[in-house]
Amino acid sequence: MAVTIGTSERSDGSALDTLYDELAASNFVPVWKYAPKLAGREPGPKYRPYLWQWKTLEPFLMRARDLVDSASGGERRAINQTHPELQSTYSATHTLATAVQLVRAGEIAPAHRHTASAIRFILQGGGQEVFTAVEGERFRMEDNDLILTPHWTWHHHVNPSARDIIWLDGLDFPIVNFLRNSFFEDYPGAEAPTTRAQDHTAHRVGIVRPSWDRLERKDVIRYPWADTWATLNSLRDEPGSPYDGVAVEYANPHDSGPTLPTMGCGVQLLRGSEQTRAHRATSSTVYVVLSGEGRTVVDGEQLDWSEKDIFVVPPWSWHEHENETKGDAVLFSITDKPLLDILGLYREEPLSEGHQDVTSIFRPGSS
Ligand SMILES: [Fe+2]
Ligand SMILES: [Fe+2]
Repeated sequence: MAVTIGTSERSDGSALDTLYDELAASNFVPVWKYAPKLAGREPGPKYRPYLWQWKTLEPFLMRARDLVDSASGGERRAINQTHPELQSTYSATHTLATAVQLVRAGEIAPAHRHTASAIRFILQGGGQEVFTAVEGERFRMEDNDLILTPHWTWHHHVNPSARDIIWLDGLDFPIVNFLRNSFFEDYPGAEAPTTRAQDHTAHRVGIVRPSWDRLERKDVIRYPWADTWATLNSLRDEPGSPYDGVAVEYANPHDSGPTLPTMGCGVQLLRGSEQTRAHRATSSTVYVVLSGEGRTVVDGEQLDWSEKDIFVVPPWSWHEHENETKGDAVLFSITDKPLLDILGLYREEPLSEGHQDVTSIFRPGSS
């Protein structure tokens, strides 16, 4: 009768130890010994949630504003959020990187391109004259707009206004670097040429489009906040998601799929005093607080947040949100779910008890 491999070790130990030593010396690994490490029963290695407070970040950004210009290496005056448990990847989650970038009044952040894809969410925008140029088209940058920079597209940022502009960058470079597929190129000159008319893409993403000129997935898309907010606000009397409140996703008009193949974006409205139920998913998410005050409990750890704070929910972590005010709280988020969907890996489940016990309070700055 056949027996199951690895249920017991047959020798007295010393011969087996010798085998293990000699395998290791020749760069082999006995799978029967290390199988749980090679194929974990649950997603891992785990890491904790984390939160970066705006009140800590903003003074650093203002110091960089005064100390850094393009001559001192500041092609991009951006401060990256690095999770202390993920320092080797300079990232907020294991797949997503975020940074807060400032372009001073009168400045140009010069053109370049890279294989990492990016999204920009505008925290402090400018008027008509402020723009980001992507692949030859100019896109206005107004408060809370979302602008995509698909991979390997030339992009630069121009701020001729009298006020600084600030936005959140979201990038997939942890994925690109994991795949060892990073390329980066500077444009020969500060600004890449404008090759498309104003609103070229805007006239191709609606429900009426030119019949002879089809949108491509790589075409850049700007999601004006006025449209996003109108949709979100119109849904406020609907029940919403039990886990996310009134939550909307940004769809790519090319195929109604996610904003980018590696990153999805969303906004959620938590109505006054709304508390969601806990669930968990295999995706990781970075949140930015657009307005309001509240808390998110992640695996029993309470993260208290207020406007412009940035926080992270790691994969397979129970999480629930609560708006602790009577007014609205609004969260913007970036998730790696699209990549997991492509791979067929995405999974989520609700917490049957509905809510978690709070076992610790996150202290900003703690690792
Ligand atoms: Fe860039
Ligand atoms: Fe969630």
